[in-house]
Amino acid sequence: METKHIKIKDLISQASDMEDAADLIRSGEVVAFPTETVYGLGADGLNEEAVKKIFQAKGRPQDNPLILHVDSLEMLKRLIVEIPKDAYLCMDKFWPGPLTILFKRTHIVPGIITAGLDTVAIRMPSHPIALELIKKSNTPIAAPSANTSGRPSPTRASHVIQDMDGKIAMIIDGGETGVGLESTVLDLTEDVPMILRPGGVTLEDLREFLPQVIIDPGLLEGTGDHVTPKSPGQKYRHYAPKALMILFSGDGDKVVGEILERARKDEAEGKKVGLLVTEENQHRYPEKNIVVMGSSMDKNTIAHGLFDAIRKLDEMDVDIILCESVEEDQIGMAIMNRLFKAAGGNRIYL
Ligand code: TXA
Ligand code: MG
Repeated sequence: METKHIKIKDLISQASDMEDAADLIRSGEVVAFPTETVYGLGADGLNEEAVKKIFQAKGRPQDNPLILHVDSLEMLKRLIVEIPKDAYLCMDKFWPGPLTILFKRTHIVPGIITAGLDTVAIRMPSHPIALELIKKSNTPIAAPSANTSGRPSPTRASHVIQDMDGKIAMIIDGGETGVGLESTVLDLTEDVPMILRPGGVTLEDLREFLPQVIIDPGLLEGTGDHVTPKSPGQKYRHYAPKALMILFSGDGDKVVGEILERARKDEAEGKKVGLLVTEENQHRYPEKNIVVMGSSMDKNTIAHGLFDAIRKLDEMDVDIILCESVEEDQIGMAIMNRLFKAAGGNRIYL
């Protein structure tokens, strides 16, 4: 399939381009578009055949449900049984924005969206192009991240092109995404509000409004294999570079020392070693095959650049990636969740 590429700089003067994109969505095709978190792979969320094309393009397992993106409360209300009180609080504060909320679904929502669950994940994105596409399409847009399943999520149109060119009808280039990591997935359908995936809205942000909010125990390490994460997507190896990756955590100086040591050893064995490190520590390593993920003084820069950094290391064709950790507060929780998954659980504590 020939993929159409459009670049949107101004929604007003380019209204007809957005109309073309919405026409494709309405006619059951797949369009990749920017959101404030990562690029999404969008299709009409009420059209089962259209949604099937998303799964095909990504190579996504059918048991992993999708998020529906809405532009208004009216659109939301058609999809769900009720809006719990806590949801009003969160929507008021964080919508439009990087928070996905689980609701009890109505029968309008096709089973393919929810993988047969009776809950549906919904968010209202804040990116103007995303909102305009939903509005013009006049339907909730189902959109997972626009990467091939298992690869790092795309934060630039060039990443989407790498993974999706030739497989979908259109790619809308809206520049780099802002947050850089996916939305927080919050379950409000049980007695205690629970974060199923840490993301752009932090635990600290949510606690202000939902003091009782907890993290899905299945997400935390050390709980053993018997606790399965509630969000199906969290059980897969995700965000994964092609190379083996090891995450080093603990005392900062020890981490640097251990990475240097391990790099020497692997290089002596003829392996090509890549380093994924913070700006502050960059000067402490040899310059070869090093990618800076951002500044530990401002973790938002790390969130913003993380997936691009992992893709860059892939392009260098390294055999092994040695990676620093960041503090797990604020957006650091989402960063460490993605790094831990990218490393397939390979984490060394020092
Ligand atoms: O920021 C984002 O959320 C991006 C942009 C495009 O909006 N989308 C995204 O979608 O990250 P995806 O499909 O890559 O991740 C959706 C996550 C998965 O972990 C999935 O298992 C979970 O949400 N999810 C969706 N519906 C669910 C449900 N009913 N119950 C539990 N988890 C659900
Ligand atoms: Mg994804």
